[in-house]
Amino acid sequence: MCGIVGAVLPKAGKTAEETVLEGLSRLEYRGYDSAGIAVLDATSPHPEIAWRKEVGKLSGLLASLEEQPLPQATTAIGHTRWATHGGVTRVNAHPHLSYDGKLALIHNGIIENAEGYRLHLKQQGINTISETDTEVVAHLLERAFLTEPAPADTKLTPQGFTVADLDPDNLQPENLSRLVRSMLRVTRDLEGSFTLLALHQDCPGVIVAARRSSPLVVGLSEEGNYLGSDVLAFASRTKQALEIGQDEVVVVTPTGVLVLDQSGNQILHTRATQVFPVNPAEAKRAFEVDFATDRVTKEGFSTFMEKEIREQPRAVAQTLDDRLDANGALTLDELRITTDILRGIDSVIIVACGTAAYAGQVARYAIEHWCRIPCEVELAHEFRYRDPVVSVRTLVVAISQSGETMDTIMAIRHAREQGARVLAVVNTPGSTISREADAVLLTHAGPEIAVASTKAFTAQISACYLLGLYLAQVRGNKYADEIADYLEKLQQMPARMQTVLDRYASHLGVENLEAIKSVLFLGRHVGYPVAMEGALKLKEIAYLHAEGFAAGELKHGPIALVEPGQPVVIIVPTPRRPELHRKVVSNIEEVRARGALTLVIAEDGDESVNAFADVVWRVPASPTLYRPLVDVITLQLFALRMAQALGLDVDQPRNLAKSVTVE
Ligand code: G6P
Repeated sequence: MCGIVGAVLPKAGKTAEETVLEGLSRLEYRGYDSAGIAVLDATSPHPEIAWRKEVGKLSGLLASLEEQPLPQATTAIGHTRWATHGGVTRVNAHPHLSYDGKLALIHNGIIENAEGYRLHLKQQGINTISETDTEVVAHLLERAFLTEPAPADTKLTPQGFTVADLDPDNLQPENLSRLVRSMLRVTRDLEGSFTLLALHQDCPGVIVAARRSSPLVVGLSEEGNYLGSDVLAFASRTKQALEIGQDEVVVVTPTGVLVLDQSGNQILHTRATQVFPVNPAEAKRAFEVDFATDRVTKEGFSTFMEKEIREQPRAVAQTLDDRLDANGALTLDELRITTDILRGIDSVIIVACGTAAYAGQVARYAIEHWCRIPCEVELAHEFRYRDPVVSVRTLVVAISQSGETMDTIMAIRHAREQGARVLAVVNTPGSTISREADAVLLTHAGPEIAVASTKAFTAQISACYLLGLYLAQVRGNKYADEIADYLEKLQQMPARMQTVLDRYASHLGVENLEAIKSVLFLGRHVGYPVAMEGALKLKEIAYLHAEGFAAGELKHGPIALVEPGQPVVIIVPTPRRPELHRKVVSNIEEVRARGALTLVIAEDGDESVNAFADVVWRVPASPTLYRPLVDVITLQLFALRMAQALGLDVDQPRNLAKSVTVE
């Protein structure tokens, strides 16, 4: 996984380092086991790589740099790690240096054939000091650099693109040409996924990068150029961004960027913020970052999670906003499939991971109910391996906050290979999943920083409801006035969510939270996935044993877990659905009879729960399908307060990362 940042500036100073450190702070959601940086001053007569890496969160690296500053530099690369190969140690942290110390490399992904190379290097007398796959590649690159024949000319591409075309002041053309060729040669033979950023002492003032199945975007500006795992890495410096495609190599100098395909052919180059593609179709790779980076602060809250929980009414309202065209018909953000195709689909499969998968499970009830199409929800990593029945008439819906979850990416690739159409529900415009999908429905939740997903969940549910209504519209399952009515009621939900926040954000009414050792969550119908999401939140940030069950399943086993004092959270459906409501109230009685401590979510005015509930969290009466939007808020707050009572790091829980970019 990991987050990577690079900055290439014309003048030496602290800006390159500061840019990289600021970028790392924005990318810490990708991992925070360790952090590191390498810098190089291209204006020095004797450029030398200086580096620092520390175990733990970025704050550790910052403290170390404060104590012992790095020299001024023009160029910097930085890394925040989520450990895959090798334990969480300083030696395994990035950057990794080549055996002669001249090349520094950072990496996101997993190189699957690294062990073979490690052995091969050893036979040649090059020993690795870390357990990482990355260090192996650093040595391979340096060995390739040293053995690459001196180029006959300084052309960087077969088409004759030269170093001079990048307008550099102090690049050494022969060395740059060798470094680029080395990157092309080494990455060609690597297996697995990677984004690699390399800095070379004999070739200062440039970063050479490559990507396969891991994200990389470039930021363009008049003041210098940047690289990052996503645009957050450099969005405070520039809003002009450039997508880098699969298996491409990028050369970044302070004034220009050159993008090559795996054979070394030029795809495009830039000068300042202008993009010159070889093929005009590639011009669309350039895009403007359209969100304000100043939103990525805690805005006075002690944690991002609390801030994001409280932002939910706005996140849902923004997701629902502006969806009707001039004729009052619902629209999606990007539709690269015809409505005829959507009319012809005979099944929907939702693929996602973690919280997004629970959002999918909620959505399924609405999609089946409104569209009368069978809808399955599958964990993305399981989908591929069960040989799913997918055809050209299947609509695969990928839900992802980041748009970069590797399991979900692989699932949609598999689906497309089988001929299915893919619609993405994502929160990050320009992300891999949104690019690879046939249609996109954006959740407008804004950047979500806390690892435990909150506002993305309610925004995903809302977006999926829009999708359900959209399908019902194009397929003619519902009349226009019915759709308008569902939509209107959905648009009333943000106000109800705000009511729940007003009631419980500061006070949940549960005492001795720190004494709780495990919690069971029960729900029926749409309350079932919400129960599982409530349990997931508690596992993620409070490290407590928690499980969500379908309330009807209780008597088939889980009830054996209930002993006196066991906290059980029960989501009670609206009394306006008596067949559901009655059964859940019976379930409360069953656990209560065995001494459970019952924490009950019930609608305003539902007095039937009073006799059996130790604590009641009241939510405003809402249509059954929309209840998850208010119910989940109490569960998010419950997990948050529990983690805080235990003194845990709410935003960056142990062992997790926000965006899981490895399979
Ligand atoms: C990780 C995160 C979860 C998230 C899941 C899916 O496991 O820790 O919070 O729900 O990935 O992420 P996505 O970005 O695809 O929604």
